[in-house]
Amino acid sequence: MAISESTINEIKYRNDIESVISPYVELKRRGKNLIGLCPFHNEKTPSFTVYPESGSFYCFGCKAGGDIFTFVKLIENLDYIDAVRLLAERSGIAIEEDSYDNSLSKLKEKVYDINRETARFFHEYLMSPDGKWALDYLVGRGLKISTIRHFGLGAAPDSWDMLTNHLKAKGYSFSDMLAANVIGKSQRGSYYDRFRRRVMFPIIDIRGRVIAFSGRAMPGEDKKSGKYVNTSDTPVYKKSENLFGMNFAKSHCAESVILVEGNMDVISLHQAGFENAVAALGTSFTNEQAKLLSRYTKEIVLTLDADAAGINAAARAGEILKNTGLRVRVVSVPDGKDPDEFIKKHGAAGFRAVLDGAVNEIEYKLLSAVADIDVNTDDGKVKYISRAAEIIAQSDNAIERDVYIGRLSEKYSISRSAVTARVDEIRRSNAKKSQKKAINEVIRPKFDANAANPQKRLNPTATAAEECVISVLFSHPDYFEEAYKRLKPDGMITSLNSRIYEKICEVLSAGKTLDISLFSDTLSDSQMGYLVSLVNSDRARENPLIVLKDSISVILDEGEKKSTADIKNMGIDEWAQNLKRVIENKKRGNKNG
Ligand code: CTP
Ligand code: MN
Repeated sequence: MAISESTINEIKYRNDIESVISPYVELKRRGKNLIGLCPFHNEKTPSFTVYPESGSFYCFGCKAGGDIFTFVKLIENLDYIDAVRLLAERSGIAIEEDSYDNSLSKLKEKVYDINRETARFFHEYLMSPDGKWALDYLVGRGLKISTIRHFGLGAAPDSWDMLTNHLKAKGYSFSDMLAANVIGKSQRGSYYDRFRRRVMFPIIDIRGRVIAFSGRAMPGEDKKSGKYVNTSDTPVYKKSENLFGMNFAKSHCAESVILVEGNMDVISLHQAGFENAVAALGTSFTNEQAKLLSRYTKEIVLTLDADAAGINAAARAGEILKNTGLRVRVVSVPDGKDPDEFIKKHGAAGFRAVLDGAVNEIEYKLLSAVADIDVNTDDGKVKYISRAAEIIAQSDNAIERDVYIGRLSEKYSISRSAVTARVDEIRRSNAKKSQKKAINEVIRPKFDANAANPQKRLNPTATAAEECVISVLFSHPDYFEEAYKRLKPDGMITSLNSRIYEKICEVLSAGKTLDISLFSDTLSDSQMGYLVSLVNSDRARENPLIVLKDSISVILDEGEKKSTADIKNMGIDEWAQNLKRVIENKKRGNKNG
């Protein structure tokens, strides 16, 4: 374990599971446990359970589960080490840096270093005489030198190896450079610079670290590699979880954030004084990005094209933002321009006026829906009103619906009750559809137990028995001797349970306390959910010792059956080894059975 057990224990001691979860989930007491709406999937009735006794949580809908570290990891999108660090920080516990000898966190540090060095290299190149072509281009697009410095913009030279050589000379290894995705490796095994003759935008996270790059080709220079080359996901970067400009916007967006499409839009807006602009890095807006924004702001202003793509984007983003509680308003930049072009032509004041015209999502959709309809004909009028009814029906706020219904009926002189009836009808049918969807989500859980232990399918009987053994030992560690003398870890048939049981044996035979947190840095999220569901299950409430004994017998029998079935396909050595194991298991079984 990368962080010492005693540190983990201390963090757990100071952060009980209820106090860790309750800022994110409204919990109600139910017996000795607590329940609430699961933050990891959409649901209307609570299936998310917190178990103070075992310090764990489990959702019966999506099968997410784990301890405080798993929870923080999932809800804050962190890896295990960072989740531990966050909880340690919150409770004022110091983690000695040298207690990490985790290879992933070491690699991450290297990647951050390489990124910083690479950003510096690109920036210095841009500002050098050799980078004149790129600087001319950026200045030609209206950027001030101070803006270029502020964003740390750079340029990649027209070369296959300048960056590679530079980083090599600084002492970085090729494998770390590959991990940072700043170089590539050819089929013949040689290394090359990934970004060549491009204007470079460093992507910087909220803690000010360079995490990735976006490189734009010079206009008119057709490149096979495309207009933009971006860093793919690396140990420190996930495109779907970051926003370009967030490092600056985070301190200017308490009220609202402007979401635009391109990096250049962000930079132009910041230069013009709109320092709350961010861009989604060439992806469509994601849940993770919404979650990040919701920690900093109250409102998102989407800048969109008034075309079909723009309307779809608004609908999608609106859907995502619904779950975050953020207010959404929408503007369309006139003349189909992007904000960067618009601001160059009309200045900051022009853009301010556009922002002031921001309307809510419904209003925006109502305005856009009229686009291709001729409302002067009766046909067109009917078509528009039924489309508008669909849009109004999407609002969950009855007062809001009423306001729009009123406007619509007035504008097109139709009876209010007719529109209201239509809207209500649509809402009823939508409710049915979303109920179906919610049920589907429960049926297809994200943290699938079958995915956690795929071997369950091959031998459900043995797996069920294994699950009982694990479950009983967590609630009755005093039966450990009884279990261990008959069943060794390699006697479990599914490899996940065998691993879990091995750890249980290791902990209990050392006389230590069994705690799910001993598993949280080695099991995956799904596996953790699986383990927690076993730990909190009531399957052995009555007669645990009998359940334990019977389960072990079942596992031993199944192991023997399996061996017989496998024998046909075995080599002679394997066969001999297996025979030995069967005999040994038998002996143990007979002695204690
Ligand atoms: N993008 C990308 N890959 C592409 C095209 C676009 O990653 N092949 C992303 C970039 O982040 C880009 C954004 O999508 O900033 C918007 O694309 P586009 O409108 O084509 O670029 P602009 O930012 O407007 O660039 P410019 O104004 O320099 O043409
Ligand atoms: Mn543009």
